[in-house]
Amino acid sequence: MGKATRSLIILILLLISVCSLTLNVLLIIFKRVRVFDDDELSWSRRAAKEAERVAAISCSGHGRAYMDSSLVVDEQPVCECNSCYAGSHCQKLLPSCPANADGGDPLFLEPFWMENAGSSAILVAGWHRMSYTFNQSSFMSKQLEARIRQMHAIVGNAVTEGKYIIFGTGSSQLVNAAIHALSPHNSSSPSIVVPLIPYYPLYKLQTEYFQEVDYKFEEDESLWMNKMNSYSNDNTTTTLIEIVTSPNNPDGQLNRARLQHPNAKAIYDRVYYWPHFTAISAPADDDIMLFSLSKLTGHAGSRLGWAVVKDETVFTRMSGYMSLNTMGVSHESQLRALHLMKVIIERKEGETIFDFGYKTMRNRWEKLNDIISLSKRFSLQKLESQYCNFFNKIRGPSPAYAWLKCLRKEEEKDCSAVLTAANINGRRGSTYGDEDKYVRLSLVRTQDDFDNLLSRVKILISEEDSAKSI
Ligand SMILES: Cc1ncc(COP(=O)(O)O)c(C=O)c1O
Repeated sequence: MGKATRSLIILILLLISVCSLTLNVLLIIFKRVRVFDDDELSWSRRAAKEAERVAAISCSGHGRAYMDSSLVVDEQPVCECNSCYAGSHCQKLLPSCPANADGGDPLFLEPFWMENAGSSAILVAGWHRMSYTFNQSSFMSKQLEARIRQMHAIVGNAVTEGKYIIFGTGSSQLVNAAIHALSPHNSSSPSIVVPLIPYYPLYKLQTEYFQEVDYKFEEDESLWMNKMNSYSNDNTTTTLIEIVTSPNNPDGQLNRARLQHPNAKAIYDRVYYWPHFTAISAPADDDIMLFSLSKLTGHAGSRLGWAVVKDETVFTRMSGYMSLNTMGVSHESQLRALHLMKVIIERKEGETIFDFGYKTMRNRWEKLNDIISLSKRFSLQKLESQYCNFFNKIRGPSPAYAWLKCLRKEEEKDCSAVLTAANINGRRGSTYGDEDKYVRLSLVRTQDDFDNLLSRVKILISEEDSAKSI
C-alpha cells in the first residue's frame, strides 16, 4: 500500500469519526432537550394537549368549541355558534335572523384573549385548593386582593388605600350584601332602596326577591328625594339606600348620589368605570363601590365581583352575609381572575386590554351614532368627550349601551315594537323603570351581533321617509 493511499484511508477514517462524534453529540443534545421537556411537563401534558385540540376546532370565526361544549358528537365537542350562524362549523349565516342587541354579555373582549392565548391560559390541578378556605383562614385569595388594588392604582379609577375589599359571586351578589349591611336591624320602619331612573333592572328584581323585614324597594327616586330633602334631620328614622350606577346602565351617564339627608346612604355600582367605557376623570372615592370581572376582562361567566368598602362595620356585615350565603367565592374563579389580572398588569408590549376595549367600543359607538344622526325618527343619548387621566388625552364616548329613543310621540310610544318589526331585539325602556319610547341596545356583544345590528339599523333608517308616508 502506497503512502498516499494510507494517508487517504486515515483521512477517511478521521472524517467518519468526526461525523459520528458530531452525530452523537447532536443526538445527546436532542435527547436532552426532549428529556428536559418530558421532565417539565408530566401530568399536565394531557390536559394541555386536550385544550389545544379543542381550541383548534374551526368554527369559521362565528362560534367557539369548548372542552365542556353543550353539543357533543361521538364524544367530540362541536361548535357553539354565535347568534344568526349555524352549521357544524358555524359557516352558514341565517339571512332573516334578528339582530341580537339584548343582554350585556361582554364578548367584545373575546378577541383580545384569543390574541393573548398563551399568556392567559391556566391549567388547574385536580387537587387545586380543595379546602373551603385559603390557608385555613380566609375565603379570599390575598394575592387576588393585592392585584385588584394594584389594578385600581394603575388605572386610577378608585381609591383603595385604607379600605376593605370583599369578593362576591359577581357584583350581583354584592348588591344585596351591601343593602343588607346598610339596613339597620330592628328599626321600626324598613330601609327604602331606590335607584335613579333609568336603572339596571336587577336592583329591583333582586331586592324584591330577597326582601327582608329590614328593607324594601321603591321605584320613585324623585318622590323619595323630595320627601327626604324636606324632612328636618331628626324627624325620620327611615334609612334610604340609593343605588347609584356610574357610568349608568342603560344610558352611560356618570351619575352622582342625589339624596341629601343624614339617613341617606349610597351604594355606587362602578362596574363600567373602566377605560373601555368611559373617561377616567378621577379615582372614585365613594363609601361602597362595586366592581366586576365581567366588565373589566369580559369574563362574565366566572362570576367574580368585588366591593371596595370604607367603613369597617359595613365590611364586617357584608362579610357575614357572604359567609352565610355562599361561604365565599369559587377558588377556581379567584385563580382565573388572579391570572387574568396579572396578564393585564404585566403586559409590556403590544395593545393593552384598555386600548383594545376602548378602540372597539368607540368604533361601535361612532358607527351607530353616524347612522342614527341621519334620522329624524330616532335619537341616542348625548355623551360628551372628556379628558381621561388614564389615556392622558381627551377621548370621545364609548358606552356599553345605546339608549335609543323613538321621537314620533303618539304613533311610536312602543319603541321596542318598532325595532322588533325591523328585526332588532333590544330591551324596552320600562325594564329600566323608564318609558317605552326608549330601548336599550347592547354594544358589548360579539362583532357578529354588532354587525347585524348596524346593518338592520341602516335599513330601518334608509326606509324612514317611506315609513312616515304609510
Ligand atoms: C350596572 C350593572 N351592575 C352589575 C352587573 C352585574 O355584574 P356581575 O356580572 O358582576 O354580577 C351588571 C351586568 O350587566 C350591570 O350592568
